[in-house]
Amino acid sequence: MATGARRKIVAGNWKMNKTVPEALALVRELRAQVAPLGDKVEVVVAPPFVALQAVHVALEGAPLQLAAQNCHWEASGAFTGEVSAPMLAELGCAYVIVGHSERRQFFGETDETVNKRAHAVKKAGMTPILCVGETLAEREANRTLEVVERQVRGALVGFEAADVAKFVLAYEPVWAIGTGRTATTAQAQEVHAAIRGLVARLYDGETAGRVRIQYGGSVKPDNAAELLGQPDVDGALVGGASLKAGDFLAIVKSAG
Ligand code: 13P
Repeated sequence: MATGARRKIVAGNWKMNKTVPEALALVRELRAQVAPLGDKVEVVVAPPFVALQAVHVALEGAPLQLAAQNCHWEASGAFTGEVSAPMLAELGCAYVIVGHSERRQFFGETDETVNKRAHAVKKAGMTPILCVGETLAEREANRTLEVVERQVRGALVGFEAADVAKFVLAYEPVWAIGTGRTATTAQAQEVHAAIRGLVARLYDGETAGRVRIQYGGSVKPDNAAELLGQPDVDGALVGGASLKAGDFLAIVKSAG
């Protein structure tokens, strides 16, 4: 499927890292250096909730988009400790990461709650970055494609082709996250192509050709170019390496 139409998207998922002053220092560095890289690549940062407001202000007018790492599916109400999609939209978030494997593993996220959150994100005018990926046990049992297909189908329940065409999917094999163990380019490409094929079956070829699919899991400056060079890999969702401006910008550069 043609890749030319899809703009690459590199997002930094900071996870539970960076205080507000640390977040500001990082985005100021990114802001200073990202502009010369041009507009071939969309660049996104996902700081913790508490830093979103300050980072939003610091990014004003910069070619960097803001993302949150999660949201609740209700717009407001008695949900102590939760943050809603309209609250995030108001803070300038363009994207919300939904269904990250850490949330699935440690916070009881299911395909159903991922789908509910994705609907809330869309309703608030933002775009979900929908994460899927198999565990090591699932890969070793040859269940990778089955698991990823179930997660993608679950995440997309109730969405139309026009929605899905704008979405970002992120394939993040759980065994590659924070482990220094990256999927080979062949492993990544195989799953990305399978996900695109599934979107074509669920919707149509045009939608499949437009949806962007990021790879995540130990993406570093020295492996990014090869991964991002795969025909169905449209960007990267970067954890650890997004915490250092130099490393993150090197990954962005290899996408351009
Ligand atoms: P690492 O890049 O630290 O492996 O994290 C990947 C990830 O989970 C991004 O969402």
